[in-house]
Amino acid sequence: DGGDRDTLIKAHELAVKLYHYLLMNTTHGQAALQYLRKRGVTDKQIDHFMIGYAPPEWDTLSRFLEKREFDSALMEKGGLLIAKQDKSGYIDRFRDRIMFPIWNRDGKVIALAGRMLGEGQPKYLNSPETMLFNKSRNLYNFHHARTAMRKSRRIVLFEGYMDVIKAWSAGVHNGVASMGTALTDEHAAILQRNVDEAVICYDGDNAGQAAALKTIPILERAGLRVQVAMLPKGMDPDEYIEKNGAEAFMRETIEHPVSSTKFKLLTAKKNHILLEEEGQKNYLLEAVGIVAVLDSPTEREFYLKELSREFDMSLDSLKQDCFERRQQLQ
Ligand code: CTP
Ligand code: MN
Ligand code: MN
Ligand code: MN
Ligand code: MN
Repeated sequence: DGGDRDTLIKAHELAVKLYHYLLMNTTHGQAALQYLRKRGVTDKQIDHFMIGYAPPEWDTLSRFLEKREFDSALMEKGGLLIAKQDKSGYIDRFRDRIMFPIWNRDGKVIALAGRMLGEGQPKYLNSPETMLFNKSRNLYNFHHARTAMRKSRRIVLFEGYMDVIKAWSAGVHNGVASMGTALTDEHAAILQRNVDEAVICYDGDNAGQAAALKTIPILERAGLRVQVAMLPKGMDPDEYIEKNGAEAFMRETIEHPVSSTKFKLLTAKKNHILLEEEGQKNYLLEAVGIVAVLDSPTEREFYLKELSREFDMSLDSLKQDCFERRQQLQ
């Protein structure tokens, strides 16, 4: 009920303050702080995103909450604690991890994510689905990004926490992340109420590019115009910013997104060996299929012309193929 929700939110807010304090002011937090600094995370980012550190002990948060008379069973339901196997009590869910609070649209902390200090599995541990936290509806940083997204009528979609955080300092104040889960129709509906356009800026690895391809139709179905900001092979936004700086990130990627159609064409192209005739032909046929789904005749002609120039083909034959593909779509 509402009382439980309020209590859980209060517990989350306290946990975030505790973890942030431990990171910034205690020797327990030293290694974590060092790890963050090594990754280029600034004090300003740590403060703005209320990053913290959960120490390795089993009972840091559980004792802290117990002392303040929070009901441990409720804290377990909310994902902050875990019940011991023998049911003799509760332990902290998050241990020895860098902590990122996850806010709801009203700016209340409803979940947490914890990252390992090094390599290992799982890299991130997130709160489970709870009465507060619904992954298919929540986007990381949505409440911070709201003002900027409404002003620009545009959202930038990232994969992860660090991407949002680094991009924020680079000047992208309308960035959110779906936190590794696939973007849902519910996410898209929420975005559609606030913006007209989405820029997908996923990781430059195969998984990221595949996810971008899946995300495009979800956003377009919701009525958004979609563009894709592409990154060099294998790099994610956080790595790009660390390596090349904020200015280059803005100039080379965010400010020059390609249309969703262009992105599909570029992706399709990578799957064909254009040095061979067979590869060229197959790519052209796939490309015509990509163009065929576009509703606007002008847009279709625009891309077909580009293809006709690129492969020295007559526009007529491409148009004819495109027409036939459209017939098959009906
Ligand atoms: N993710 C997760 N659990 C994992 C791995 C990933 O919840 N075990 C989510 C996180 O929200 C993460 C996002 O998926 O931020 C993207 O995953 P990935 O690209 O692998 O991580 P990065 O965000 O690049 O993490 P980092 O820069 O800290 O290595
Ligand atoms: Mn602080
Ligand atoms: Mn990734
Ligand atoms: Mn990544
Ligand atoms: Mn990363």
